[in-house]
Order: sequence, then structure tokens, then C-alpha cells
Amino acid sequence: MSQYILEMVDVVKIFPGVKAVRGVTLKVKPGTVHGLMGENGAGKSTLMKCLIGIYEMTAGKIILNGNEVQIKDTISALSLGISMIHQELNVVTERSVAENIWLGREPLKNGFMVDHKKMKRNTLDLLKRLHMDINPDETMRNLTVAKTQMVEIAKAVSFNADIVIMDEPTSALTTTETQQLFRIIENLKKKGVTIIYISHKMDEIFQICDEITVLRDGEHVRSDSASNLNINKLISLMVGRELTEMFPKIDCEIGEPILKVENLSSGKDFSNISFELNRGEILGLAGLVGSGRTEIVETIFGLRPKTEGRVYINGEEVDIRGPYDALENGIALLTEDRKKTGIIPVLSVKDNTVISNLKRYVEGITLNHKKIKLDTEEYIKKLNVKTADLETAIQNLSGGNQQKVLVARALLTAPDILIVDEPTRGIDVGAKAEIHSLITKLAAQGKGVIMISSEMPEVLGMSDRILTMHEGKMTGIIDRHDANQEVVMKYISDGYKNKEENNE
Ligand SMILES: Nc1ncnc2c1ncn2[C@@H]1O[C@H](COP(=O)(O)OP(=O)(O)OP(=O)(O)O)[C@@H](O)[C@H]1O
Ligand SMILES: [Mg+2]
Repeated sequence: MSQYILEMVDVVKIFPGVKAVRGVTLKVKPGTVHGLMGENGAGKSTLMKCLIGIYEMTAGKIILNGNEVQIKDTISALSLGISMIHQELNVVTERSVAENIWLGREPLKNGFMVDHKKMKRNTLDLLKRLHMDINPDETMRNLTVAKTQMVEIAKAVSFNADIVIMDEPTSALTTTETQQLFRIIENLKKKGVTIIYISHKMDEIFQICDEITVLRDGEHVRSDSASNLNINKLISLMVGRELTEMFPKIDCEIGEPILKVENLSSGKDFSNISFELNRGEILGLAGLVGSGRTEIVETIFGLRPKTEGRVYINGEEVDIRGPYDALENGIALLTEDRKKTGIIPVLSVKDNTVISNLKRYVEGITLNHKKIKLDTEEYIKKLNVKTADLETAIQNLSGGNQQKVLVARALLTAPDILIVDEPTRGIDVGAKAEIHSLITKLAAQGKGVIMISSEMPEVLGMSDRILTMHEGKMTGIIDRHDANQEVVMKYISDGYKNKEENNE
């Protein structure tokens, strides 16, 4: 009997023109959480997609419990006890939560009709067991990215697999929900389930992983037990160098108010939001999932109607009814959901980079293609985007590299007001620091930045002030110097609200 539940041996995966995985060996012990780490484009997702049968390996072997197996598709992977939560959430948006979870394996009555009652009951049981507060009948399209991610987690668990692969399962989750997932993982572990865990959030890795394997440029760098590594060692294994500064915040002069929001409300999503954003300032928006952060910035950007309130730019009231108005008024938005509103999958990296800024390249009746190319090249280099070339379709890039292109697009717009919603989601440590420094530089140039982030260190490290939200209501604005994790958590959580009410 092998001491490993899973051995992937000398795995190679070549795409046309790209050698994504170059002979990687991964050995995983049963009942452990095994972290799979590496920069964007290192080959983590590709290796796991070989294991789950989405990709056919160019070369290599897969051994389960000592026996070599052939995995030709996801169905055979599932029948061998392997399930996966994908990095790019893949849901049927028009169907319900229950239908998505049991898709293709719905419980039947009379042998051929879907037993909806039973399906709902099973879903309720599953969600309850995982302590997820989600309505089984809700249509997927109405769920936030975070809730969608939780449904995907529930689905992966529902297969009762022996090995569950989690490819960045917490990218859209806040601290509280992440801890909830960790409890689920602990329970799975107790039942002997093995987890392969991919994340760019370093603290998570050390919180839950027993062993860690690091990939770099498609190659195996090191496998070790987590206790033999620490964050700095891990980072240098991943990027091949030491990173010194994580949040390179420049202290710059705070200028005149550039944006003023007064009593802004949008239906029942949020109400009575008032704040000012000054030139040179980064205003963080903190809150739990569903607190209304994304909805606020979408309303300012004109993506959803306001039901009350006023918005002023440079002291003048504006009426922004859509993205076009917003851009005209010097506002750019990097959206949270790159699949729905972000990338245009079939277009090239270059076109995706400049698409919102074509105006900038118009010369007479043509476009200045040379300038487009130069600008794209500059940002690809700055953000270390891993792509074969500028003409590669963006859908062929790794998840994190797609996100980098979207960040480049937002930064290139060089707006007066930059709104970024989870700007570094899924981005590796090296590029994260680069994005932070680019955002900070924009602020130092006298622009105003609003940043939503679910990563507490990012909010605390980057913001001059932090606006806190709880269930659609503002609970405070905290100055950088008064902010720490505990204070912010208090303001965004239920506890704070209850305390206030009790005091009344
Ligand atoms: N379908 C595809 N066609 C062509 N190239 C691809 C395809 N999928 C991935 N690649 C390339 O393979 C390499 C590895 O990508 P992969 O998605 O495995 O990276 P990753 O480690 O998961 O990165 P991330 O942290 O950004 O998710 C990248 O250079 C990527 O561009
Ligand atoms: Mg990936």
C-alpha cells in the first residue's frame, strides 16, 4: 500500500505554443490539506485540470492509492472520488441553486421525472450541514460572487469525494466566510478527505495546510511540510526572489474634495450613504459580503439606479446614468466580477487592455496602433502578465493574468476617480505589490481612489480612511491611524450594531 493517496508523476501539459506544465511530480498524503502554490501562470490550475480530466496530459502518470489510473473526463474523475471547485466559477445562471448543485444527477421519481421536492430537501440538508445561509430556490444570477462561490463549495462537497481540489475557493469570500470554509475543511479532514488547496492568500495557507508544493514556471520547485516553511521562505520559492515591501503606501498630501456623495440610496441594497473623497486619497470600503459595498460603487458608476441622494464631482452635481456618463465625468471602475462585466474572452490581450480608452488613441480617423502596442507592452511588463504575446486571446491566460489585464485597463484610463472592486483578487504576491504601488502613485498624482477589498491587510495597508458598512448601512469612517483589524471588524460586524442599539 502506498503512503500517498495521490501521486502525479512527471506530468507535462503542452498547449499550442505554451508549455504550461513541464514535468511536475505531486505526492499527496491521505487526510491532509496540501497547498499548491505558485505565481500567476505557474501551472497550478492546469495541473489540477489534468487530474480532474478536463485536460489530457501530454505526458505523465496518475496513481491513486498505489494504482495507476486513466482519467479521461470529469465523470471518470468523480467516479474515482475526485471533485473540484473551479477558479472560474461555472454556473448555469438561469437555474436555481438546487438545480446547479445536482445538475446531471437530479433525484428522480418514477424513474424518469426530476423529484424537485427531494432535490430541495437534499439541498437544504447540504446547506444546513455546511452552515450556509442560501435559498435553494434562488436563481443563480441573483447571487453575489461570494454566494456563488459558496454554492460551488457546497457542490464539490456534495459528491462525497475522497479528494477535493479547491482552486482559489476564497477569492470572493471575506474573512468570516473564509473561516467558515476552514471549519468545513477541518470536518472533511476528520472524515479522512484529502484537500488540494490553491490560494494566493499567504495567511490562509499557513492556517490550514499540512504540506505545501511550490511550482514556478510550470516546474516543481519544492514540496515540504508547512511547519518547515514560513511566509518569506514561501514567497521566495514562488517568485525566486525576496519581496520586501507589501504595502508601499506613499504618504501624500490630501487635497480638495473631488467626489461627494450625499444620502445615496438604492432600493433595499443600501441607504443613506454620505462621504467625501479627496484628491490624493484612497478611501477603503470595508464590509462583509452582502453589506452593499459593490452596490454603492455600481450606483456611483451608473450601473444601477439610485433611488435617493446626490453625487457631486468637483463641487458640481452630476447625474450619472451609465458607464458612458461615468467615464465622461472621469470615473473608471474595475469590477469585481471579471467574467460577467470584465474580460471579453475572445479578444486579444491588447484589445482587452485598451478597450475602454480607445478615445485616447484616436488620430484623425484611425487609431494609433503603435501607441496602443507600446502602452500595452508597458503594463504587461509592469504587472508581469504571463502571455505568449499581445495577440493571444485573453481566455487562454491563467486567471490571475486575466485580472492583471483588467487592472491595466483601469489604470490606463487614468481617470480622476478610480474605483477598484477587489483589485488584487487572485493575483500573486509579486504583482500585488506592483498594483498597490501603481494605485498609490495615482493617488499621489492627486487622483481619488475608492477601493473595495475583502482582504483586511490590504484595506488596512492601503487606505487613508476606511468607510465601514453593515447590511446596507454605513457604520463609520475610520482614519488610517485609528484603524486596526479589531476596530474594523467591530464596525462591520453584527456585534458592533447590537452594542450600539443596546446603548441607546
Ligand atoms: N487553454 C489554454 N490555452 C493556452 N494556454 C493556456 C491555457 N490554459 C492555460 N494556459 C497557459 O498555461 C500557463 C499556466 O496557466 P495556469 O492557469 O495553470 O496558471 P495558474 O498557476 O493556475 O495561475 P493563476 O494563479 O493565475 O490562476 C499560463 O501561461 C497560461 O497562459
Ligand atoms: Mg489558476
